Amino acid sequence: LTRLGSVSCRALEALLPAGASAAATRADVSGVPLFPEEEAAVRRAIARRRDEFATGRACARAALESLGLPELAIPTGSAGEPRWPAGVVGSITHCDGYRACAVAREADLAALGIDAEPNRPLPERLLADVAFGDERALVRRLAGAEPDVRWDRVLFSAKEAVYKAWFPRARRRLGFEDVALTIDHRAGTFSAELPPPGLPLADGALQVLSGRWAVDGEVVLTAVAVTR
Ligand SMILES: CC(C)(COP(=O)(O)OP(=O)(O)OC[C@H]1O[C@@H](n2cnc3c(N)ncnc32)[C@H](O)[C@@H]1OP(=O)(O)O)[C@@H](O)C(=O)NCCC(=O)NCCS
Repeated sequence: LTRLGSVSCRALEALLPAGASAAATRADVSGVPLFPEEEAAVRRAIARRRDEFATGRACARAALESLGLPELAIPTGSAGEPRWPAGVVGSITHCDGYRACAVAREADLAALGIDAEPNRPLPERLLADVAFGDERALVRRLAGAEPDVRWDRVLFSAKEAVYKAWFPRARRRLGFEDVALTIDHRAGTFSAELPPPGLPLADGALQVLSGRWAVDGEVVLTAVAVTR
């Protein structure tokens, strides 16, 4: 399989703890061969979706290689999640002008989720579906302190990263209203509180998740990692 061309993942790597490996590209990589098990996910997809999927897999193979792992199929699970080789956790993201993957050995990280979004305003309608409790006030306050960052996007992206870290272990849907997010804009971190014990959470380790955010050019990046 082909190697990634130009890789720009310093900003993403800076969000990840030791043990994680990342690969990113700003443009689709052409001609990425897919394994037959991967083809199933994009057999009927339009070219644009196929390209972003294949580039995500190319990023995944590059990131896995940095962990010393061979090129392996990463099929798509029934909920859309990437199915990593045994002993690996990881996450894939794509948005306009950015595709990336981060992986780690399960011995080092219990869960990993990443997300990329354009650093542009979230449609007001979407914000209403995403922000609950104190989160709207938080977004307004941060916009006053640091107007160049689209804090509604950071909030949205952070919740998507939480979901991607959470789902492969919990195997249960999580609503935006189920996660209470706080953001520390000076430290570049965020914290996500998930439903308390008693609700059918599959894993007690995932009740408070910590993450990091950054703006890299036009893109908001978020990452959630659960260390051992
Ligand atoms: C799955 C979801 C999180 C993807 O996020 P997105 O910003 O739309 O798109 P991204 O490009 O960043 O990520 C897509 C990748 O996420 C991964 N993904 C999809 N479903 C997933 C799941 N259930 N668990 C983990 N990863 C998943 C896949 O790798 C996918 O890329 P691929 O199909 O090329 O492999 C989003 O579409 C979704 O369903 N959100 C609703 C649930 C949610 O976010 N709840 C938040 C509660 S806090």
